[in-house]
Amino acid sequence: MRDHIQFYLGDQHYRLSDVAPETTVLDWLRETRHLTGTKEGCNEGDCGACTVLVVRLENNQLVWKAVNACIQFLWMLDGAQLFTVENLRSPDGSLHPVQQAMVDLHGSQCGFCTPGFVMSMVAYSKKAGATAKDADINDALAGNLCRCTGYAPIVKAMKQALQHTQDNFEREQDQIRTRLTALQNAEMAEIRTHAGTVTLPRTSDQLAASYKAAPDATLVAGATDVGLWVTKRLQSLPHVISVSGVHDLRKIDHRPEGLWIGAGIPYTEAQQDIAALFPDAGEVIRRIGSTQVRNAGTVCGNIGNGSPIGDGPPLFIAAGAILHLRHGETRRTLPLEKYFLAYGQQDRKEGEFIEGILIPYPAPALQYRAYKVSKRFDQDISAILGAFALTVTQAGLIADARIAFGGMAAIPKRASATEAALVGKMWDERALSAARDAIQTDFAPLSDMRGSEWYRRTVAANLLTRYFAETSGMTQQPETRLAGWKETAHG
Ligand SMILES: Cc1cc2nc3c(=O)[nH]c(=O)nc-3n(C[C@H](O)[C@H](O)[C@H](O)COP(=O)(O)OP(=O)(O)OC[C@H]3O[C@@H](n4cnc5c(N)ncnc54)[C@H](O)[C@@H]3O)c2cc1C
Ligand code: FES
Ligand code: FES
Repeated sequence: MRDHIQFYLGDQHYRLSDVAPETTVLDWLRETRHLTGTKEGCNEGDCGACTVLVVRLENNQLVWKAVNACIQFLWMLDGAQLFTVENLRSPDGSLHPVQQAMVDLHGSQCGFCTPGFVMSMVAYSKKAGATAKDADINDALAGNLCRCTGYAPIVKAMKQALQHTQDNFEREQDQIRTRLTALQNAEMAEIRTHAGTVTLPRTSDQLAASYKAAPDATLVAGATDVGLWVTKRLQSLPHVISVSGVHDLRKIDHRPEGLWIGAGIPYTEAQQDIAALFPDAGEVIRRIGSTQVRNAGTVCGNIGNGSPIGDGPPLFIAAGAILHLRHGETRRTLPLEKYFLAYGQQDRKEGEFIEGILIPYPAPALQYRAYKVSKRFDQDISAILGAFALTVTQAGLIADARIAFGGMAAIPKRASATEAALVGKMWDERALSAARDAIQTDFAPLSDMRGSEWYRRTVAANLLTRYFAETSGMTQQPETRLAGWKETAHG
């Protein structure tokens, strides 16, 4: 068993055996390494000032990701190479093409956001298939906030930088690959310090044994929720067990019975496959947090946290997903909706963890739609999310209905009265009217800062109307989608 982690910061190798569970990458960079180019703004994953670049070797490919250093724990760097804004300048002193473009096109004023922006821009320039389309660039930079320059010069700078194909990282690819290959280690690690224990299993058998033996430990996948427990609630984590380093949980597979998403798969790696089956679910995922959040946050962590406003659960409940759980050597499955029992309470035993979810392939007659309603379009938590999946026969009869909502109850929940009001009916205005009435009996939503009870009830019913407009074959279908949606979600 290893008692240390290993990673590179730039070209410097680190082997650390004194790593506290809660030390964030940002605090380590700024307070221990005195590398203050990476800024601290919100300390909760929202502003992108702390964006850094992490490269890993996955399936023999270099995978570059922008992440928020404020909500990544230092031990999560095991096996990776980290680059900060200090690593961008070439040995001859010239700026990185992204930095040069920011200078040329006046992309920076006070400069506080700039290191984070340039790191997101470098990450985007490394993305396979990166385009100079506004919608794609906006998406890549939606997790970086600027208060003074405004975004137009920054987007222009991104376009200019995309014209340069070579940067230092490109030239040093072989070296990076050699370093990362040397860091690959199949051995599990456990680091015990006075500050707590960090367990880094490599296989799901090791994870199962570790968590069964220490059920009070905190499971951490991408840390986009758990990170905030530390930075905002100042909670300590005496023992963490990592999910994301478990190789056999980092799998996304097309199985005969559906799409399998392992517990270590972040949103960015699942989005395309999910979108291919359920385009609307893919579009909602595009709006979960930001690129940095989706690069780290996992599909299953979103289920694990049991939040009533998590975007994933209603999407997958409507799609009929099955949750796979494991405790020691015992495995069980349950329909996803049955996992959520009450606020903060899930059907999960001590020491049991999610191995993954299986999303069945949609039948041809399934009409799946999902709508996220939030105050901002990007980088915002939902006030309400409605996901609708009716199976409508050629004759227009509703053969089956699965409708799930987030933000309408203490848990993500199916609208069973609405479903019952629809099944067996023709999909027409009468059925819609019955469904709009029934949905008022399904939920007793709360009023909070994201929306009042009245607002939630009204929006839920109106989403049914929107779904009807899109799926019932109305001859004059009103425009129901924001401009830009088609361009980004459907090519
Ligand atoms: C700026 C920002 C914006 C966000 N925007 C959105 C948004 O728009 N929509 C949205 O839904 N969410 C949003 N989130 C929340 C978060 O990103 C998601 O919930 C994410 O999917 C959590 O995944 P993770 O891997 O980071 O989980 P972690 O933080 O690692 O863990 C979350 C919880 O799940 C548990 N857990 C993790 N893995 C397992 C497992 N295998 N088995 C059992 N339990 C497990 C953990 O113990 C913890 O309780 C946002 C977060 C931030 C910081
Ligand atoms: S400091 Fe704002 S995202 Fe990290
Ligand atoms: S340049 Fe001042 S916040 Fe962006």
